[in-house]
Amino acid sequence: MANNPQFVWVDGKLTPWNDATVHITAMGVATVSLVYEGIRAYWNDSAKKLYVFQLGAHMQRLAQSMRLLRMKPPFTAETLSQAVIDLLSANKLSGDIYIRPFAFVESTTFSTAATDIPRIVITIQEWQSRLKNGKVNHACVSSWTRIGDNVMPPRIKAASNYLNSRYASEEARRNGYDNALFLNANGKVSESTGACLMIVRNGKIITPSVTSNVLESITRETLLQLCREVLHIETVERELDRTELYVASEAFLCGTGAEITPLASIDRFTLGDGNIGPITKRIESLYDDLVRGVDSRYAEWRTSV
Ligand SMILES: Cc1ncc(COP(=O)(O)O)c(C=O)c1O
Repeated sequence: MANNPQFVWVDGKLTPWNDATVHITAMGVATVSLVYEGIRAYWNDSAKKLYVFQLGAHMQRLAQSMRLLRMKPPFTAETLSQAVIDLLSANKLSGDIYIRPFAFVESTTFSTAATDIPRIVITIQEWQSRLKNGKVNHACVSSWTRIGDNVMPPRIKAASNYLNSRYASEEARRNGYDNALFLNANGKVSESTGACLMIVRNGKIITPSVTSNVLESITRETLLQLCREVLHIETVERELDRTELYVASEAFLCGTGAEITPLASIDRFTLGDGNIGPITKRIESLYDDLVRGVDSRYAEWRTSV
């Protein structure tokens, strides 16, 4: 297949793609206790350099996800960060890349113990950025409720959590929408199926708090910091009501994969003039320059390969 890398990082070794296998009988159970990360690396064409964005923060979150599932990681976050760099170098790719480290307990039964040492695999694929492509999405509020902290904590980036996302995104697609937005069990807005949400009201950025049943998104945190420190836009993290979505002047999804995905409408309420809003545009432009190192500020967020 064209998009496969030459090597995958498996349990500490650069392994040829075809040798990176797991036995089929382990998969059903392994995926129940699988946690992962999605990381992007951005190509800077004028510098001919690849930058991994927020690598350290992603590896810290992977460690947190493993801890909450009581996995005993055989590698430190620092070792895994270096593994990503080694893997990208070995595969000699250029262009924008998506990196997926995952940790799972390889077992054929459900009786996995607290002492379980996970297998850790890192794979990569080319994935062109959507930043500044000018496209807008249309979202709906899902009829499905977001999972909660005492059911299946969304704070953990666990593969099983995405079953909740799948119900919502399949429903949304069949009803003619691009994205679904969840309400949590308290009826407050939480997040989308694979990204957080920000809205603009009266010139302020408002986003559901990290106790609204969301993944503690690294992009969300990054953008809040940039709004405060660079763009001087006021930011508010709080519970968000559904109707606030309908009276927002702008809204966008944010996440490593989603990057900044502008929403033109929610439940067919057109936001602003139905194009990318002015604040969203400023944020998108700054983010694009920073992730590629075109803007040299916040150098600590970029790891060059
Ligand atoms: C459910 C969910 N929420 C939020 C995010 C955004 O998180 P991050 O910005 O750390 O990629 C993601 C994507 O990884 C996600 O899957």
